[in-house]
Amino acid sequence: FQAETFQQDLIGWFTEEQRDLPWRINKDPYRIWVSEIMLQQTRVEAVKPFYHRFMEKFPTLEALADAHEDEVLKAWEGLGYYSRARNLHAAVKEVKETYGGKVPDTPGEIGKLKGVGPYTKGAILSIAYGVPEPAVDGNVMRVFSRILSIWDDIAKPKTRKLFEDIIREVISKENPSYFNQGLMELGALICIPKNPACLLCPVRQHCRAFHEGVQKELPVKSKA
Ligand code: ADE
Repeated sequence: FQAETFQQDLIGWFTEEQRDLPWRINKDPYRIWVSEIMLQQTRVEAVKPFYHRFMEKFPTLEALADAHEDEVLKAWEGLGYYSRARNLHAAVKEVKETYGGKVPDTPGEIGKLKGVGPYTKGAILSIAYGVPEPAVDGNVMRVFSRILSIWDDIAKPKTRKLFEDIIREVISKENPSYFNQGLMELGALICIPKNPACLLCPVRQHCRAFHEGVQKELPVKSKA
């Protein structure tokens, strides 16, 4: 596996083929943060209208921090999983009070915020700040289990750590944002769960599962 050519092929493809999504118009860490929280349990197409309305109502971190919780929950209505909204609101207040309104740019600080787990931490750091941190969710585990033909059970917490260690090694230090977003986009558009579109895949030359013909058998995911 050649990390450097893999990075080039992935980032080149993402540069050309990425979807125009409302959280890709700038690198405002607050906007990235809100999008990543909404996208955790909700699909891109369902998130879009809520994201637009939420950003109109709370255009800045300060605006959200100063809002009443019931307003925030009302704007979240329809997205479900309301603890996401409550945690986001509490965390944004914390950023206003403790960090003067600037979203922290270190793993230690950002990881302490309510509702910011390893995935969200890596997504914000890499996309908003260009810090080379992995952002491993189920989609990224599916993509990388195929690329490297890894048969570990992705339902096990240890397996996410394994993928984080691997991605820490192979992530582009020049453009971690496009590297991580490229993996997410690949998982959404090409390296999909059933019938992945390998013939359209920009990194199929790097893909061990494709070469072995086992891409449909990966990832391994237990039910429990
Ligand atoms: N899923 C999770 N994060 C995403 C992002 N930034 N863009 C598209 N889909 C995503």
